[in-house]
Amino acid sequence: MTPFSLGEWLLADMHQATANAPHNALHRYRSVYAGIRKAILSRRLTPGIRLPSSRSLAQELSVSRNTVVAAFDQLLAEGYVTAVTGSGTFVAAIRRNDKVRSAVVRAGRGPILSARGRRILTAPGGATHEIQPFVPGMDDFSVFPSKIWQRLQNKYWRDSPAELLDYAAAGGYMPLRRTIANYLSISRSVRVTTEQVLITAGTQQSLQLCAQLLANAGDLAWVEDPGYWAARKVFEACDLNLRPIVVDAEGIHPEVADLTTEPRLIYVTPSHHYPTSAVMSLPRRQALLDLAAAKGAWILEDDYDSEFRYSGRPLSSLQGLDNHDCVIYLGTFSKILYPGIKLGYMVVPIDLAEPFKRTLYDTQRPGQVMLQAALADFIEQGHFATHVRKVRQVYGERRESLVKVLRAVLGPHAQLSKEESGMHLVIELPDQASDIGIAAEAAKQGLVVRALSSYYLGNQRRSGLVVGYAYVPTQRIKHFGTLLGHIVKSALRR
Ligand SMILES: Cc1ncc(COP(=O)(O)O)c(C=O)c1O
Repeated sequence: MTPFSLGEWLLADMHQATANAPHNALHRYRSVYAGIRKAILSRRLTPGIRLPSSRSLAQELSVSRNTVVAAFDQLLAEGYVTAVTGSGTFVAAIRRNDKVRSAVVRAGRGPILSARGRRILTAPGGATHEIQPFVPGMDDFSVFPSKIWQRLQNKYWRDSPAELLDYAAAGGYMPLRRTIANYLSISRSVRVTTEQVLITAGTQQSLQLCAQLLANAGDLAWVEDPGYWAARKVFEACDLNLRPIVVDAEGIHPEVADLTTEPRLIYVTPSHHYPTSAVMSLPRRQALLDLAAAKGAWILEDDYDSEFRYSGRPLSSLQGLDNHDCVIYLGTFSKILYPGIKLGYMVVPIDLAEPFKRTLYDTQRPGQVMLQAALADFIEQGHFATHVRKVRQVYGERRESLVKVLRAVLGPHAQLSKEESGMHLVIELPDQASDIGIAAEAAKQGLVVRALSSYYLGNQRRSGLVVGYAYVPTQRIKHFGTLLGHIVKSALRR
């Protein structure tokens, strides 16, 4: 197959455009921009491909370099490409469909979406969730006891009692709320009664309720940097301003300038920072609780994958240390069961329980009571605990073999995140290495790893690769790990 030449394609495209409408010639930079955009949308240029330099493209098209730079800038602003200092301009991995994109910026018609809508759509977000080896965040459903799950659901469907087919009132199905309260107080040292637990459609919905009920439009939310993009999106959708706060090996670390600001919400992942894996140290936990109390801020503790700890003692929650009632604890079944279950829970201080339940019911009309009933049985009958033990063992083995093979291939070239928990690890790269470029190389070989730099909001970005191991079958880890290791090693040698 002849390799795709962007220069030739653009020349042909610009020639055609002038032939079709000789009096309507677009400004030069617009036609370069439109041609590249067309090449990206038609997938002649696929995500991760590096564009030619502005200088060489300008020469090929016989236009000035400024013309090409202006076209690149426009593509960058609209999210079609990403620029990596020192490495070049790459076709972005974020693929929104063309309809959404044209609604954001419809040429000549002005924006159609609200300012909020445009902000949500243009902020960095999740790439398409390809289910491929090493995709972060995907669990392995083949380990899930689906027969038991099916049997428990069938039991309720056979009788279909009306109350289980109705909306979920009062914060969710009572027996599930009770069993979660039990589980959290024993295994996570959460201080909780059943009344404080609400069942939600996952962490996203829990965060949305917090933002809607506890913050006003324009209020400030501190978010970890790097951090979970989906949490930021919820805050943006609720008209909050974001302040990225540095995360180091001990967790979130506000600097002097941060301390002069007044956050209303502070979003953290203390048990296992997403995505660097740092565990928040005890002194940091205490400092954060004191700071939140002093500033009248709410801490949103996202404990998304605390079940996966492969060595050492289980960590207690931040909420369990809170003497000021300023922590809201969020959990999810997405990681331990499967993402599409969309069931999560939150623990709120007792005086917030009623306002949260009412708002959840009035604004969301939650449902899935039948599913909640089956899940309550699943936990009460001990299947959940058995499943947790099983996945802990399986994912722990996968982690261990991946670490072994990456260390063998990479040697001293790259460090691996040390924390033995979660479903992913981070290959830490030298700062000058282009993690976006390496992730694109890996994608060509069918491996989906995410560039650590893409999880940042601020300008201080570390380079690395976020590698999910939970979804890769144990017997394939060595094969895919070796492949990944060699991709990284040869990129670092260049
Ligand atoms: C940091 C973090 N929190 C929470 C979740 C789960 O969110 P949900 O319960 O909305 O599926 C994820 C999923 O990827 C995550 O990475």
